Amino acid sequence: MTIPDPTAGIDTGDPRAAASREIEALSEELRLHNHLYYVEAAPRISDAAYDDLFRRLQALEAEFPELLRDDSPTQRVGAEPRDGLPSVAHVVPMLSLDSSQELDAVRRFDERLERALGDEVVREYVVEPKLDGASIELVYEQGILSRGVTRGNGVVGEDVTENVRTIRSVPLRLREEKRPIPTLLSLRGEALMYLSAFEALNEARIMAGDEPYQNPRNATSGALRQLDSRITASRPLTVIAYDVLALEGAELETDAEGIRALSDWGFLVPDRFEVVRDVDGIAAFHRAYDRDRDDLDYEIDGIVIKLNALAPRRRLGSTSHHPRWAMAFKFEPRKEVTRIDKIFVSVGRTGVLTPVALLRPVEVGGVTVSRASLHNREELLRKDVREGDLVRIQRAGDVIPQVVERVPEEGRERGEAFSMPESCPSCGTPPVERGPFTVCPNHFGCAAQLKGRLVHFGSRHAMDIEGLGEETATLFVNLGLVKELADLFDLREDQLTSLEGFGELSARNLISAIQRRRNVELARFLTGLGIPEVGVTVARDLAAHFRDFEGIRRATEEELEAVHGVGPKMSAAIRTFLDDPRVSEAIDHLEDRGFEFILPPPVAEGGSPLAGKVFVLTGTLDGYTRDELKELLQERGARVTGSVSAKTDYVIAGDSPGSKLAKARSLGVQVLDEGGLNKLLGSSGRA
Ligand code: IVH
Repeated sequence: MTIPDPTAGIDTGDPRAAASREIEALSEELRLHNHLYYVEAAPRISDAAYDDLFRRLQALEAEFPELLRDDSPTQRVGAEPRDGLPSVAHVVPMLSLDSSQELDAVRRFDERLERALGDEVVREYVVEPKLDGASIELVYEQGILSRGVTRGNGVVGEDVTENVRTIRSVPLRLREEKRPIPTLLSLRGEALMYLSAFEALNEARIMAGDEPYQNPRNATSGALRQLDSRITASRPLTVIAYDVLALEGAELETDAEGIRALSDWGFLVPDRFEVVRDVDGIAAFHRAYDRDRDDLDYEIDGIVIKLNALAPRRRLGSTSHHPRWAMAFKFEPRKEVTRIDKIFVSVGRTGVLTPVALLRPVEVGGVTVSRASLHNREELLRKDVREGDLVRIQRAGDVIPQVVERVPEEGRERGEAFSMPESCPSCGTPPVERGPFTVCPNHFGCAAQLKGRLVHFGSRHAMDIEGLGEETATLFVNLGLVKELADLFDLREDQLTSLEGFGELSARNLISAIQRRRNVELARFLTGLGIPEVGVTVARDLAAHFRDFEGIRRATEEELEAVHGVGPKMSAAIRTFLDDPRVSEAIDHLEDRGFEFILPPPVAEGGSPLAGKVFVLTGTLDGYTRDELKELLQERGARVTGSVSAKTDYVIAGDSPGSKLAKARSLGVQVLDEGGLNKLLGSSGRA
């Protein structure tokens, strides 16, 4: 494999044209090696040789930024964070599957199809693993990845295109070596983490002092829904494609052909699938997969059975939830029996007290299990498990398994019934009951909760206090330097310099970072309080509406509901939180430290002309950085999203715009250059 030398051979005298050709050649080569590595697991060149090609391409793109394309192999590292994930409608609704653990249900499914289809359709079924990840839709227009959308409610999902672009097994452009590319392809696949990659990720998190993820599925959907795609890029995600949702410019007759087409176009597809003719064939596949389940490097929870012929699918149709031409045949969850040595109660960041059983270690599906969640007070009561009891536990894709039931033992004396403690094991406060949950209400004082609150308060989207991470927060709480949020503002440099991990400079920086935040955007302060249901967006809307913190503290539920996006459930949760005397006291103390809130500029009489308008930014501008412009637009009530769709009102195109510009033109979206933008903003540039 050689790196094309731009000076050799081609001599047009035009360095830009030469660069363009080399970029094209390098991109193609990198795409091939990417596919060989991530999809075929059969690399042909060394990592070092790949890196050389990659860096050469990066250098050329840096030299000729106008030649950088959105689907370049270098564009998988993630982009600037966004404020929220916009909702988009699926090309075709993403239904879920009817499912059962019973072979009888499969028989009935087959009989239903026989009745509906009669003899003229040969009933063949595709059987494949039911992957336990997060399902997503990918859309390719003219062979180029144009959208990635989470399942959401099946009709509308979240636009995670930027994140999906960072997943190496997802082609940014379809391969056309084996099969012509369709004009439109919408497909469904499962985003997941291989178990080996998940374990390595969790190990790294534990080493870094972060909470490990509970299971690969949660880790996957968390990574997929990041606002900062650079974070997604750092997580080991894979996508396996299994269903063509919509297709234009190509024809398919069977599901099996669809899977082959997806593979030809460059996707990873289920590594085992079969076409079987009857229920016996289905049962055999199910048995074989169940047996091999523990040897796989990914979680599956059953198999999926789909009618192979595609034409009759339309005739069969679907219920409101699931298609009539497919079903899931699930496995029994993996269960084992063991004894409970002890029951203890752990306190989470939100104050929920969770009873946890410490078990005699037992192996369940290849994993040694020594603790299991007992969920909450009501579950505990219902199952009536006690210390010393023999219990059946199950692991359903979770690292922390569940206690399913007690296994009765004749003639054995049982221990005392377990009841939730009368005081929080972390801070001693009497807990309160919220539905089935038991909650420590000392949200700002309880050490277990305070650590989490401090980290949240200081996080980038909230008060943005650099240096107030997990480790520092834990140190402050454990040493008693911070007993409530307000104490943060009383910390002195000399208290920190003696602490482990602090020098004079870092102590000074942290103290000044904290003190600077007495003057802060109201929305950031609100976000930082960690009011239930109030994230960045709601906080911003509340700040814009009330323009005064006291107003929010006093607002009735109805008054809160007058704010865009706040419904009854949210307003009730906000009120309950703010009305709690301890919360109220903690906020009083915080306010005593003297804050000056920065408010968003008032909306002009009759509303801002930009209110509700949707903007997409591409390319670089002279007068603004991307973040500055975004803020400016948001202050005027506009929304800034990451990808162009028919709902986009304006695309702002600076120098070297990406493919978003072409997309905008093709959709007829209004495109503005910097001059046009300034006119729209009603100024001739920045004030
Ligand atoms: S086919 C209309 N095949 O399982 C349904 N789904 O409730 C067509 N899933 O979230 C889906 N592996 O995304 C199909 N091999 C597979 C699958 C699969 C996992 C997911 C699906 C959905 C859930 C079903």
